[in-house]
Amino acid sequence: MDVAVGAPLYLPISDGNAPLPEGMNLEQLQHEYAQLVEQKKALEMRVLKSEERRRALMHILSDLNNVNRKLNNQRKAMIHILADYEKDRSRLARQTERLDNSRRALMHILQDSHQSNLRLESSRKAMIHIMSDLKETTEEVKRREQELREKQEQLVQAGKLATLGELTTGIAHELNNPLNNIGLFIGNVIDFIELGKGDPQSILHELHSAMQQVRKANEIISHLRTFGRAASVSREPVAIAQVIQSALSLMREQLRLRQIKVELHFTAEDVIVIGNAIQIEQVFINLLSNARDALANAANKVITITCLTKADMVYITVSDTGPGIPNGLEQRIFDPFFTTKEVGAGTGLGLSITYGIIKEHQGTIAVENLPGEGALFLIELPLKR
Ligand SMILES: Nc1ncnc2c1ncn2[C@@H]1O[C@H](COP(=O)(O)OP(=O)(O)O)[C@@H](O)[C@H]1O
Ligand SMILES: [Mg+2]
Repeated sequence: MDVAVGAPLYLPISDGNAPLPEGMNLEQLQHEYAQLVEQKKALEMRVLKSEERRRALMHILSDLNNVNRKLNNQRKAMIHILADYEKDRSRLARQTERLDNSRRALMHILQDSHQSNLRLESSRKAMIHIMSDLKETTEEVKRREQELREKQEQLVQAGKLATLGELTTGIAHELNNPLNNIGLFIGNVIDFIELGKGDPQSILHELHSAMQQVRKANEIISHLRTFGRAASVSREPVAIAQVIQSALSLMREQLRLRQIKVELHFTAEDVIVIGNAIQIEQVFINLLSNARDALANAANKVITITCLTKADMVYITVSDTGPGIPNGLEQRIFDPFFTTKEVGAGTGLGLSITYGIIKEHQGTIAVENLPGEGALFLIELPLKR
């Protein structure tokens, strides 16, 4: 039956002409018709609901379609991302491999450097040991050097006093001579005047002679003063010839009294060294004193001093015609307190001090015996540049 939805359903009432179905009365028919109308209503309701559901389904379907499309797009994007990701992954894998290689290389290097470090550390430790040893040794050497320097200074002082002591006897003698002479000359003048004799000319002559002796005594004393002055540590240009002359003039009288001749052989030029004049003078006084003593019993009494230069050095010799240095004592004579002289006569300090002074002036001193006889001292000093 084709029925429009919602259209009222009418059961056509029998016009009384149409016959009723067999075995069925009107009431029954009415009842069945009512049931059918009910059923139709229910069916219409179901159709309506179905229609609503269909519409909802259509909505859902179109939504689903949209979602599907979106999903599709997202899938495509996802595939792109995945491809990119894959690319990145393989790149990363390669980088990881490279990194791994680098890491392994680094490990090797680290191990090597660790070993090097260990070796370095042990070397460093050994070095520290050596350094501390060295430091101790250096300190010890420094201490020794300081001690030596102090001893040397003490020796120089003691030696100076000793030399002064030695000289005092000679000086007394030397001063005695001019004093005697002065006495004689003045005595003469007194005689002249008392006896009323003597012209002013002769008196003047005697007084001049006395004056000369006074000057001589003065000279001796002024030398002594210079020598006695505490040796200053100052260094200045020193003229060797002048210093030797100065030492000789202090010793001259002693040498003259012992009939000792002094010969000088100097180079023409001025020989200048850098040092302390008083100390160098003491060197020559010491050498001259020793030569003087060595010549005491010699038949031929000559002291020779030579001085020559070569390159940037000056070579000075002081030799005598005495008996020379006893065999085997050539080195010992420079030791402090070594003497072969009688008690009271020698201190044994002269050559030790001489050695110290020459060394302080960056020079050397050596001794040898001359072929015939006598000792020769050779001093080498650097020239002033
Ligand atoms: N010119 C010399 N000839 C021989 N012996 C010398 C000479 N100079 C030094 N000597 C020896 O060297 C020793 C040490 O000299 P030195 O140190 O001056 O001390 P001292 O003169 O007080 O003995 C002397 O005792 C002497 O034996
Ligand atoms: Mg001496």
